Amino acid sequence: MELTVVHGDITRQQVDAVVNAANRAMRGGGGVDGAIHAAGGPEVLADCVRRFPDGLSTGDAGWTTAGEMRARWVIHVVGPNHRAGETDRALLVSCYARALAVADELGAGSVAFPLVSAGIYGWPKDDAVAVAVETLRASPTQVEEARLVAYDAVTYEAIRQRLAR
Ligand code: AR6
Repeated sequence: MELTVVHGDITRQQVDAVVNAANRAMRGGGGVDGAIHAAGGPEVLADCVRRFPDGLSTGDAGWTTAGEMRARWVIHVVGPNHRAGETDRALLVSCYARALAVADELGAGSVAFPLVSAGIYGWPKDDAVAVAVETLRASPTQVEEARLVAYDAVTYEAIRQRLAR
């Protein structure tokens, strides 16, 4: 699998699936979750309600339509909320591994990822980058391209440097 980084907005990526940093309720929110629901339109929330009446557990992943986005699917993951004391790194590792497993079920060839838990959920940025890169590199998958999408220049540079190691 090719692992790349771009600086930009995940909702505009031309990939088969975009990963959403959701919460357990899966009914929308701020950050990248808000951007994905805004770009995908109401069909994304309708599909969340239909397919995930009880939401998702922390560390798990599940897919819905991507609505009006260019991507075909959204793969929702629930990262641990570091700010609320959820500091178990295995839960963050699980988000990336489970997202790739769901991508494999869907037959998605290309998947764009945000830096899960690194915003509102407050996971330390450098470690969030390390978990993303290490896990995406280590997980066996049929996905051909995993693209990390950095929303700001500092995050882009941190990911770029980690990929170059
Ligand atoms: N494209 C790419 N990355 C983005 C975008 C975007 N359009 N918007 C933000 N980011 P966050 P979390 C980056 O806060 O920490 C929501 O309310 C952002 O800069 O979106 O997992 C949910 O409903 C950061 O690097 O997700 C949950 O309640 C990264 O995406 C909670 O926030 C993740 O930041 C989840 O918090």
